[in-house]
Amino acid sequence: MAQQEDHFKKVISHAKEYGYIFGSSEIYDGLSAVYDYGQNGVELKKNIRDYWWKSMVQMHDNIVGLDAAIFMHPTTWKASGHVDAFSDPLIDNKDSKKRYRADVLVEDYAEKLNQKAEKEIKKAAKRFGDSFDREQYEATNPRVMGYREKQKAATARLARLLDADDLAGVKALIEELEIACPLSGSRNWTDVRQFNLMFGTKLGASAETATDLYLRPETAQGIFVNYLNVQKTGRMKIPFGIAQTGKAFRNEIVARQFIFRMREFEQMEMQFFVRPGEEMKWYDHWKETRLKWHTALGLGEENYRFHDHEKLAHYANAAADIEFNFPFGFKELEGIHSRTDFDLKAHEEHSGKKLQFFDPELNESYVPYVVETSIGLDRMFLAVFSQSLQEEELENGTSRVVLKLPALLAPTKAAILPLVKKDGLPEIAKKIVDDLKFDYQVVYDEKDAVGRRYRRQDAVGTPFCITVDHDTKDDGMVTIRHRDSMKQERVLIEKIQDIIDAQVNIKNWVQ
Ligand code: GAP
Repeated sequence: MAQQEDHFKKVISHAKEYGYIFGSSEIYDGLSAVYDYGQNGVELKKNIRDYWWKSMVQMHDNIVGLDAAIFMHPTTWKASGHVDAFSDPLIDNKDSKKRYRADVLVEDYAEKLNQKAEKEIKKAAKRFGDSFDREQYEATNPRVMGYREKQKAATARLARLLDADDLAGVKALIEELEIACPLSGSRNWTDVRQFNLMFGTKLGASAETATDLYLRPETAQGIFVNYLNVQKTGRMKIPFGIAQTGKAFRNEIVARQFIFRMREFEQMEMQFFVRPGEEMKWYDHWKETRLKWHTALGLGEENYRFHDHEKLAHYANAAADIEFNFPFGFKELEGIHSRTDFDLKAHEEHSGKKLQFFDPELNESYVPYVVETSIGLDRMFLAVFSQSLQEEELENGTSRVVLKLPALLAPTKAAILPLVKKDGLPEIAKKIVDDLKFDYQVVYDEKDAVGRRYRRQDAVGTPFCITVDHDTKDDGMVTIRHRDSMKQERVLIEKIQDIIDAQVNIKNWVQ
């Protein structure tokens, strides 16, 4: 645990030190849960967005893109249910005066039980060695079974209480489980109450005529209200999808864990419109497809797991999260939701406009069902960044800090380094930069000894360092150093492009 916390602190400081993430308006002491992306952060973020966009839009002939405005007609949010139901149950500790999400307190309690069970299993696995049967052990060991039962009972009861909007029951559950405030250690809690997460703003020149608006809390509604525009103008046939990336805003009360939970963040969402009755088939399809998209990055399959929801949002008939092993444990990275025809029907009702699709194969009109995939870009950034940051002991007794970002996502693909700042080497290096810069983000660096330059590029996550030395002038060859293996090879200048391309071309990442 302490090790995890330590790693998380390193992630935050490394992100700042190497120009990935800064606190917002830092010179004024910052703004809580709002962040700015620096010169490397913006590239990594763009590359993640591109990887998502290409996988969704470019690789699917039945998915197209959209860029809807952040401001939407206020009735949108009445229809979608956000005005009435987009809230978190909050509870305050009277001693520390700290505010918590009541459901998160119970979920954290359940996660602790899970960790205790996992610890027991790990110990047993060590004891029994190769003959260890995890499934059997989980099903028969009384201690593990006890932890699991308690964990399940707590989350199931929480789901029932939240479904029934029984806030007094949620408070009683917190008291019964003897959950204490992590700050004060006391169990002196206020009542639980609901708090709407949407930010309000105003549109108009004067106070009397201004209209109340909301900053969108999800990008999905921009897709729903445009679904017929896209379907008709794009002559789309069901099943088809609309993909969008863009900012969303939520007044998160318990904003914490760096860029995991922000007040202003970016979503990458895709709504897939299907025939009623076929939604579960597509729900399973998208669960599998999305998991593959994640694991293709090579950050370790063991770092992902599904969490099927017991408590469903007001619009869903099935929902699952893809959870990632963040430095603070497994947490939601992406949601896959079967949203039924809830949204389109609600928009029909509130707008008075028909949003039906005429299915020529069935010769009938219907309101399509929707399966959605929804991922936070910033959260994906944190997953990739935290998993890639490593400290390695080297054979010569020294250590290095290396950011082993998937090459596809790395902000800079190659650093071009003249061994010395003279003898014509900078000119050759700059010519290589000029040739590569049309295809890749590359940098030129001539400062300090070459070993220090390697370390600098390791820390920033650059997959290749290309060194020009005196022999280059005679043989037209350079030394390519690979970030992860630190192996060096001598190659012809004309071969550089192929070597980089093999590792950064999306063709070699998606199946
Ligand atoms: N349209 C469905 C929707 O918005 P959600 O589960 O509320 O569903 C989807 O959000 C994803 O957006 C989450 O899985 C998470 O990655 C990201 N997300 C949600 N709230 C966030 C926040 N406050 N900060 C950063 N990312 C967030």
